[in-house]
Amino acid sequence: MIVLGLSPLDKDSHASLVVDGRALFAAGEERFSRVKQQAGFPARAIEAALEFAGVRAADVDAVAYPFLDAEGERAAIERAFTQDAAFEDAFEPPPLEPLLAQALARVPERREPIHGLSEPNFRMRKGAAKEQFYRLAGTGPRASRFAARRIAKDWAARAIADHQHWERELDAGLERLGLRGKLKRSEHHLSHAANAYYASGFERALVVTLDGYGTGLAGSVSLGEGGRLERLHGQRFPHSLGSFYEMVTSSLGFKPDRHAGKIVGLAAYGDPRVLSEVLLSRVDRSQPGEFAIYQNLNVHLSRRLAAEFPVVDVAAAYQHVLERLACGYVGEWMKRTGARHVVLSGGVTANVKMNQRIHELEGVEGLFVYPNMGDGGCGTGLAMHLSWPGRVGATLEHVYLGPGFDEAQMKAAIDEAGLRAERPAEFAAFVARKLHEGVVVARFDGRMEYGPRALGNRSILYHGREPKVNQWLNQRLGRTEFMPFAPVTLWEAASKCYERVGGAAHAAEFMTVTFDCTDFMKRTCPAAVHVDGTARPQLIRREVNPGYYDILKEHEKLSGSPSLINTSFNMHEEPIVCSPRDAVRAFLDGRIDALAMGPFYVTNPNAAR
Ligand SMILES: [Fe+2]
Repeated sequence: MIVLGLSPLDKDSHASLVVDGRALFAAGEERFSRVKQQAGFPARAIEAALEFAGVRAADVDAVAYPFLDAEGERAAIERAFTQDAAFEDAFEPPPLEPLLAQALARVPERREPIHGLSEPNFRMRKGAAKEQFYRLAGTGPRASRFAARRIAKDWAARAIADHQHWERELDAGLERLGLRGKLKRSEHHLSHAANAYYASGFERALVVTLDGYGTGLAGSVSLGEGGRLERLHGQRFPHSLGSFYEMVTSSLGFKPDRHAGKIVGLAAYGDPRVLSEVLLSRVDRSQPGEFAIYQNLNVHLSRRLAAEFPVVDVAAAYQHVLERLACGYVGEWMKRTGARHVVLSGGVTANVKMNQRIHELEGVEGLFVYPNMGDGGCGTGLAMHLSWPGRVGATLEHVYLGPGFDEAQMKAAIDEAGLRAERPAEFAAFVARKLHEGVVVARFDGRMEYGPRALGNRSILYHGREPKVNQWLNQRLGRTEFMPFAPVTLWEAASKCYERVGGAAHAAEFMTVTFDCTDFMKRTCPAAVHVDGTARPQLIRREVNPGYYDILKEHEKLSGSPSLINTSFNMHEEPIVCSPRDAVRAFLDGRIDALAMGPFYVTNPNAAR
């Protein structure tokens, strides 16, 4: 059965071609349009998918779309807010002012500078008038209820209008392809659960999805067993960990749907004890196996906290509470089901630190996180579900599922830019030597990665000896990051570099979980170790990507380090490069030292150093 999977069109739309439960091709529209998180009908990605598989639109048996129709979503949204209104009336959080006064007294003095902040205890001061408004609308007993209701009403109206808009666009796009009659929709969280469970290869697993919003829910628990999924619980929206984290991301001045990772990085500098109690006082955990967050969409609370407390402590508290709630949720359902393996999907599970905490829960023997965990992976998930052969599947080997390009296309892009290419004989050893000498090398080879991470085929590589690279290379690439670059590490060296990798080794092939670093890692690759002693590695096996693996192996022979820094090959706020032309342009714009493209090695005539 051939299924075309389409992810929600509202942002970061993707297309995938799935045959009998296996994705042959999958890619985001952004990579073709060159607009980050491109919304709308993914016409270019569909065209690339059909072309790759040699399939005509008419051959497609079904089109999978991971939302109900606009009417169904409207009903789900209205039901969710009606239920929430009853909770808001019944739940009485303790008075906030005394808790906030105690929290202020816990703020530590900090002298050590934090890169990216003007001072270590930097606060988001907004002026007396605005701050007074945040106090009223965020925490005033009556005004905050009024503000929260208003925000919920606006949210619902916007979401309902969005679903209607994207329904029209989906229908029109499918009509053009002659596929409108083959559309199959489902409620949203099934699609997250499906991609994670079917790709995990686990026989029996607890399948947990966590996101912002999806068909009246913000999360779910299912039991995956013998290749089948059974829903056990739905975590009701708006009690959403995705929304909870969006509040802090936006209040600290970042884009909520794009920059949550920056908060994870920032959190490591703060003290979660300052504000965690304040946040937890607004969470109802009286029903085991679920939670409810009072006024969860009221952004004025996090704005007030960001103005009055150091941003690092605000980030740390939100991260800590996120981890507590997620671990409590997963832990309870593990207990109820006796499951020892956990699989995760949904936008919230992009939080690598939260995933580490879940992996460390007592009794977890295996962890798998779907590599394209956000909504970009949902079309693939539902397409897998619709065409699944009904047994336990093989585990996902790799996500090199995008387009690939041949030598002639690479050479043409190099020539067009007037660049000179070498063709070294022992390519991996040659590139490794350059890296060891301190050259920044952008690697372009093979099929493009599916999902948010660059995993070697569209990556920038550097040795990990020098922590300062996190400043100068990010600056050159036009990025602000509070988390260091991620390392790529030889599979065989996992336990030499990281503590307690255990059952999360496969998840770490996709950079989806952090680990505590060993002393060896801290000594040999300090640039990839965060201030809290963790790193989020990509573990690489030779059979998955021999060209990439061999560079690391040769580099290890020269340096003794089985790791390199791996960051995505793109310029500031641009999507990761897709074609050889994109690669050459980003290479020149970023003044990256060298480009290793297929068998070609190009030195940048205008390298920054
Ligand atoms: Fe989702």
